[in-house]
Amino acid sequence: MCGIVGYLGLNEKKEILLDGLQELEYRGYDSAGIAVIEGNTLHNFKAIGKLKNLREKTKNYATKGFGVSIGHTRWATHGKPTELNAHPHLGQYSYVVHNGIIENYQSLKEELQSKGVTFLSQTDTETIVHLFEANHTHNKNVFSAFEETIERLEGAYATLLITEADSDTIYFAKHGSPMLVGFHGDDVYFASSDTPIIGKATAVYYLDDGDYGYASKGKLHLFDANGAKAFTKQALTTDKISAQKDGYRFFMEKEIYEQSNVMTDTMMGRVLDDTIRLDELEKDFFKDITAIKICACGTSYHSALTSAYLFERIAKVRCDIEIASEFRYKEPLLTKDTLFITISQSGETADTLEALKMAKRAGLKSLSICNVDNSSIVRESDASILTRAGIEKGVASTKAFATQTMVLWILSLYIGQEKKTLSKETLETEINAMIHTPKALIVSDTLHEKLHRLSKRYLHGHGFFFIGRDIFFPLALEGALKLKEISYMHAEGYPAGEMKHGPIALADSELFTIALMPKTMHYDKIKSNVEELSARDATICAISPLPFDLADDFIQTHYDSHPMLEFFEMMVVTQLLALEISVRLGNDVDMPRNLAKSVTVE
Ligand code: AGP
Repeated sequence: MCGIVGYLGLNEKKEILLDGLQELEYRGYDSAGIAVIEGNTLHNFKAIGKLKNLREKTKNYATKGFGVSIGHTRWATHGKPTELNAHPHLGQYSYVVHNGIIENYQSLKEELQSKGVTFLSQTDTETIVHLFEANHTHNKNVFSAFEETIERLEGAYATLLITEADSDTIYFAKHGSPMLVGFHGDDVYFASSDTPIIGKATAVYYLDDGDYGYASKGKLHLFDANGAKAFTKQALTTDKISAQKDGYRFFMEKEIYEQSNVMTDTMMGRVLDDTIRLDELEKDFFKDITAIKICACGTSYHSALTSAYLFERIAKVRCDIEIASEFRYKEPLLTKDTLFITISQSGETADTLEALKMAKRAGLKSLSICNVDNSSIVRESDASILTRAGIEKGVASTKAFATQTMVLWILSLYIGQEKKTLSKETLETEINAMIHTPKALIVSDTLHEKLHRLSKRYLHGHGFFFIGRDIFFPLALEGALKLKEISYMHAEGYPAGEMKHGPIALADSELFTIALMPKTMHYDKIKSNVEELSARDATICAISPLPFDLADDFIQTHYDSHPMLEFFEMMVVTQLLALEISVRLGNDVDMPRNLAKSVTVE
């Protein structure tokens, strides 16, 4: 959930750390901090709030010559977002940064306190540095003291430690949280994802769970439970352009506009004239598979819900969807004829990753649909299909949802094709619709301008209901999630036919209903549901290709030949509506309060 950067070498360390943390700020921005050891001098700076506060605090500081350094941007889990709780955490002569959660920190803390150690913060992380120094007092070998320390940690962590007891070395350990090591000449970099080191390191090694060791004199010394471990570096990409804003006001806005293009990438080589190809999957991948179970969180869960309709309707395979955090503790009955699919933009979501590990322990075949290659979920899965959305920086996910949904649609056709449950005609119709998807995702100036104007009418009220039926129900859930994430207003997604079973009691003119009314899917049914709401004076904003007299506001869509084309066009409308409302409210669109881009804690 937080971001980690480390650097060992001769270059100016403050800028390397701050630039790296800037790339990771979307992962958490409650506070940030850096610690540097040069010779025997230790410097440490921390600031609460966004990274610009730390920049301001360190503006007169620069490093000179060789040194070791670590930095961190935090999303609070244990303890409030205060300076004392910010990383790096200090012992007597060592500093530590950490991502993840040390589950047994309370007992370790009590043990250390009983020996007279004073804790300054409320965090679980601080136990690492005190435990290390306690071990170091009886074991003068720094590395052994570090080894003893990590042996006692339970939970998920990626951690870096620097110490005056060995001032030219960075110690590291990874277990359940992402971390990689970058190399360029004698420079060694650490980071919790590759963006901070692109353009700096030229080669990379992605640490495995259980890896630990130290970097010293330009070399990485790697170990795992079996002792010293050999490793192979990979070349690191140099392409950072896609991570820039390209002139848009916000990353989220840029990412909404990008959807049309990235969708073409998602389909490339997979959607052919008359067939679907997925080279990622071995022949016979679906042999013996009679059911699908999908686990995901948040937006990825919504794309999963959408796909359940497609898997059953198109591929004729039974499909259940579970929220990963629920699945983990429900003692699910898992059978080996079930393909276990995880969906994740980041590939690092802790709940989804743990659900995947559970399914693997139960012997299920696994497939991940993910945007980040080499992420933990991808590496843990038997097979994976990348969504090819490019780096998504806005915390509110947009293009990741669009591309996940496309991959799932492709997959449903692929399974139907492999299992021969799909007619040639249906395949043709679906492929034809797919090919038109990039066009349905183009944002016209007229549409954006209209949503900008409309947004001013939706800045108050006591809540929003997004309603839809069939695949438009998960889209309603997603539209509501987008709005609440960045506007901070209450919004719910609801199956349109379910409103009469309770929620309609809330209807009055201050209840805003965003009605998804596709022509190709149960139009008359949803029309009746919306009429029921209108009769109770709810304010109706209808999104449809068909004019609707009872709408207070009407957004006309243009695609009316296939449900998925209607789906994608309406998705863009809901994304832009949320964006424009958030902008008018003066909110931070890309980094909404209390959220983080990648949720690597339970
Ligand atoms: C979406 O806008 C979110 N911010 C959030 O719900 C996200 O989709 C969820 O945390 C899952 O993330 P993942 O796709 O990286 O696993």
